[in-house]
Amino acid sequence: MLSDQAAGLRALHTSAQQNASSKTSALEQNSSAMPPITRERSRPLRVLAVASGKGGVGKTNVSVNLGIALSKIGHRVLLMDADMGLANVDIMLGIHAEYNLSHVLEGKKSLREVIQQGPGGLQIIPAASGVKRMAQLNALENAGIINAFAELADELDVLIVDTAAGIADSVVSFCRAAQEVIVVVTDEPASITDAYALIKVLNRDYKVTRFRLLANMVNSPAHGRQLYDKLARVSEQFLEVSLDYLGAVPYDMALKESVQRQIPVILHRPSSMAARSFESMAQTVQRWPVKTDATGYIQFFVENLFQGH
Ligand SMILES: Nc1ncnc2c1ncn2[C@@H]1O[C@H](COP(=O)(O)OP(=O)(O)O)[C@@H](O)[C@H]1O
Ligand SMILES: [Mg+2]
Repeated sequence: MLSDQAAGLRALHTSAQQNASSKTSALEQNSSAMPPITRERSRPLRVLAVASGKGGVGKTNVSVNLGIALSKIGHRVLLMDADMGLANVDIMLGIHAEYNLSHVLEGKKSLREVIQQGPGGLQIIPAASGVKRMAQLNALENAGIINAFAELADELDVLIVDTAAGIADSVVSFCRAAQEVIVVVTDEPASITDAYALIKVLNRDYKVTRFRLLANMVNSPAHGRQLYDKLARVSEQFLEVSLDYLGAVPYDMALKESVQRQIPVILHRPSSMAARSFESMAQTVQRWPVKTDATGYIQFFVENLFQGH
């Protein structure tokens, strides 16, 4: 077990130039497999977890800007801030959030009451302080939260979960429960090895088999591709997973400036390279197949999330 990790990590440090185009096919296959419109009671719901091994690689910026990009093309998007750490979604957007999920669990507020209207049509559930406690809900509380989410299901198309960095319990629960895990990685050794470690744990202990990679702060599209190839090659060699390429976001001063202004780059500097990359990723995400009807899925999601493991 440890030896394959060591081998995997060693291989990550080797050059990743070759193998450049072989990974496109999986993504292309997925992209063309649009699900048929079915007659289910409710519309399908996509649940995307945005994760990373290492912190500070851009998860919150990805969650917010991809969320707004999806909202701009007609999806109803709810962003759940599941990172209890620093730089939360509400801080990034300059929103003052008085209530969060813990107030829903305590029965003090309804889910609707804690949802904030963010910029660009984005709806937001602010971070709760007691995420640990959420894995220890009793049956009644659990049923309550499932109902609270189920009530919303018909009003949503996409739920994005901005997770904390690393492999804490809450992070893996969110990733296990989501349909798609977007792993954000930058070209630094710690980011790459920690991303690999996250993929490995999610696969080995939680049976997650498909991941989408987003390369952030890259110098060029080729740089992003190269990062993807490096991780995909090692992950697919040592683990039973498929890693598809979602795309790259360039290192962009416009994004930094937008963070300072507490306005998402996609709204503050819509013609910047970073903003455009989020727009194009939203198109890709929109093409991913989505099967489950919202009500059935939200039940599964919340059960997985709040019942611990
Ligand atoms: N594409 C980018 N170009 C330039 N700077 C970036 C980019 N993405 C992220 N950053 C910088 O990294 C910081 C951390 O991003 P953030 O989204 O908060 O990361 P995380 O949520 O993973 O901790 C941002 O405040 C910004 O300064
Ligand atoms: Mg963050």
